[in-house]
Amino acid sequence: MKRFLTLTVWAPLLLGCTETPEPPPPPAPAVESRLDPATGLKMTGDWELVRNNCIACHSARLITQQRGTAEQWLTMIRWMQKKQNLWEFDPDTERRIVAWLAENYPPEAERRRARIPPHLMPPNPYLEKPDADVSL
Ligand code: HEC
Repeated sequence: MKRFLTLTVWAPLLLGCTETPEPPPPPAPAVESRLDPATGLKMTGDWELVRNNCIACHSARLITQQRGTAEQWLTMIRWMQKKQNLWEFDPDTERRIVAWLAENYPPEAERRRARIPPHLMPPNPYLEKPDADVSL
């Protein structure tokens, strides 16, 4: 009797579980969407090191709208140190800041999408009329 009760209580629940399809997992948030609300900096890795050292004199927008290789970022830092009173960093801090900048704000070319293949492009009217007189 006890066993019967156990089954009658659990069976519908178990069946119910197997019949309900699992809802699809929510899409993973894009990396771009995890931005610090206060500064707009990407909240990855050493971002707090950059926040602590790089926004005392100007908005973080100056950083987030900029792109560069590690070498180009270091050149900007050297320029600020020479001309804008930016302080010296200890080598480890500087290396981590530059690496973070180059990784999160790399040159634009690396961020471009792949080319659209020609067969997916709309017709190009200029290519269709090779004899068109384009001289003015
Ligand atoms: C001591 C003040 C100071 C600090 C700290 C500072 N900057 Fe600057 N930075 C400046 C000044 C001043 C400018 C010029 C602003 C302007 O042109 O309006 C500037 C400009 C910039 C620019 C624009 C460069 C360009 O070519 O347009 C970037 C990018 C930048 N800083 C990034 C950084 C980063 C990254 C850090 C941290 C490592 C940092 N800054 C820390 C003073 C500072």
